[in-house]
Formats: sequence, structure tokens, C-alpha cells
Amino acid sequence: MDLDQRPRRLRRNKVIRDLCAETQLNTKGLIQPYFVCEGNSVRETINGLPGIHRESVDNLLETVAQDVEFGINKIMLFGVTDRKDALAATAYDNENPVINAVREIKQKYGDDLFIAADVCLCASTESGHCGVSVNGDTDNIDNDRSVEILSQMGLRLAAAGCDCLGPSDMMDNRVEVIRRKLESSGFKNTIIMAYTAKFASSYYGPFREAAKSAPGKGDRKGYQMDFRNRTEALHELELDEQEGADIVMIKPALAYLDIISDIRQNSSVPVAAFNVSGEYASVKLQAEAGLIEEKQMVIENLTAINRAGAGIILTYHLRDILKNGWHHG
Ligand code: PBG
Ligand code: ZN
Repeated sequence: MDLDQRPRRLRRNKVIRDLCAETQLNTKGLIQPYFVCEGNSVRETINGLPGIHRESVDNLLETVAQDVEFGINKIMLFGVTDRKDALAATAYDNENPVINAVREIKQKYGDDLFIAADVCLCASTESGHCGVSVNGDTDNIDNDRSVEILSQMGLRLAAAGCDCLGPSDMMDNRVEVIRRKLESSGFKNTIIMAYTAKFASSYYGPFREAAKSAPGKGDRKGYQMDFRNRTEALHELELDEQEGADIVMIKPALAYLDIISDIRQNSSVPVAAFNVSGEYASVKLQAEAGLIEEKQMVIENLTAINRAGAGIILTYHLRDILKNGWHHG
């Protein structure tokens, strides 16, 4: 063919670019995370997560009320506690800040606000691990005992009115055990958004400071996925779908776009990705240093995650996006 090829025709101006854009980031698929702690009138800043706080239930209710004004109607709660023991009793006791927050928020907003909650033991174990250990040996997390405690936690959250459980522990079979417990207790509509492919990652650093959940010794490589692996994510997908997951999640997001794409192509349920704390912090730090334009980088990152195949994205940036109108071009 002797014709000149001119792909720039479709890039000539913004209207044409908008017309031809394949991916239109939809803020309706975004979920805002929060950290809930015990006590009253607590509102603490978090090093590494500028703009995000640790709040007691009373203050959380006020923050959520403001966020609802900005248009947020999907939230994810993470618990923070100083009451830690070997068997993670705080994960499901009466003083659990997330369970109490869910109850109060649900009472106020009903179905106008979608509440998801993290289901994991790392905030409540003295070891900081996501499961309980055999004889305190943190290299030897007891899978089935941990799953039993996780399912107790899930049941208490569902009973408080939680719309969606997000098990992030990466124990085997926990989706099935949680699902069976929910079904037998009459919670037939509780959604399980499984952390299906959760990798052992450096990108969780700021979160662990926020949730006071860093492992005291050892790492999480005995239960979270090895980032050298790709097909293993498809195995986890198959298991989570069989076990009754309604939504499957990949985490982190930006260094794992290939995994998001693989899972999107092979999943018959909605796919979510977690734009994690370390990803958020790197944008914030670069913006504070004047190296980048924050809005542009946030939209680029989230569009990439969406383009790879995640229709649902958990992101700490959501409040800024809606507050500043970044989603309107
Ligand atoms: C707890 C949990 C973690 C995150 C979500 N749930 C941390 C971890 O596994 O160490 C990370 C979220 C983030 O970095 O924003 N299991
Ligand atoms: Zn955990």
C-alpha cells in the first residue's frame, strides 16, 4: 500500500480523543478505604498515607457523612487495635471497632451506602501475622484454625449489616468456610470479595503502619503469593470461584496488570483490583516533591488498572478525585 499511515488523525484534538477512547474510567466502580480504631474522638494522621486517618467510630461517622456529600457510596473498612493476643480474639469480639462501625453506618444509611470490610487476623494477632500460629511458631501458621476464626469474624460482620466481606488472609479454603457459615446462619446476601491473587509485596508498607499490623518477625511469604508466579493466580481464581466468591480481587494493582488481565479473561465474576497504600504513597510523595502532576498520574494509574480488566478498584485516591472533580476530564 502506498498510502501514508496517519494514526495521529484520531489524536488531533480532545473531542476526537474522547470519542475514540477505549477506556472510560467510571468512578462508580471505585471504593474508598478507611481505618477504624477503638476509643472516642480519635483522629490520627498516618505517616505515608497523607490525607488518610485512623479514626474512632464517632469520627469515622463524620468523615463518612462528608464523603457521602462528595458522592462516595462504597467504602471498605480496616480495623486497628492495640488489643492483640495469640488467637486474635479482638477480630470478632464486642469491642471490635469495624463491627461497631458497620452497625452504626448501616443503621444510618441502609442500602444507600455499600459497606465492605476486611476479614483478616493480622491487626489482632500479637505476631502480626494473618493467621494464628502453632505454638507461637510464625513460620507455621495453622491454616484451618485460622480459617475457623476468620469465619467467626465474617459472621459477626455480616450480622452487623456488612454488605461485603473481603478476606485478605490468603489461607486456603477460607472462602468456602465463610460462605458455608453465612449460608447456614441465614446471611444469603452477604457478598464475598475474595483477595484471590494477593502477592507478598513491598507495596503494603504504609498500610501496615496504618493498621499496626506488621509481622513482628518473619514475612508473609508462607501464605501470600510469590510475585514470580502468574499461572498460580489462575489456580487461585478457579478455587475461589468454586468456593463461592462473588467478586475476585488482585492485589497490588500496578505491578500486576498482567495478572489482572489474565484473571479478567478467565473469570466469570466481576474483577476488582486494590490500588494499595504503597502505590498511593508513591504518587503523593512525587506530587509533594513537585515532580509530577497528581491529578494526571492518578487518572493514568487508575485507567491502566481499569484497562487491564478491573472494573472495581479500591483506591485511597477516591476522595481527592470526587472532591476535585478530576473525573471530569
Ligand atoms: C491485611 C491487609 C493488608 C492490606 C490489605 N489487607 C496488608 C498485608 O497483607 O500486609 C494491604 C492494603 C494496602 O497496602 O493498602 N491482610
Ligand atoms: Zn492480614
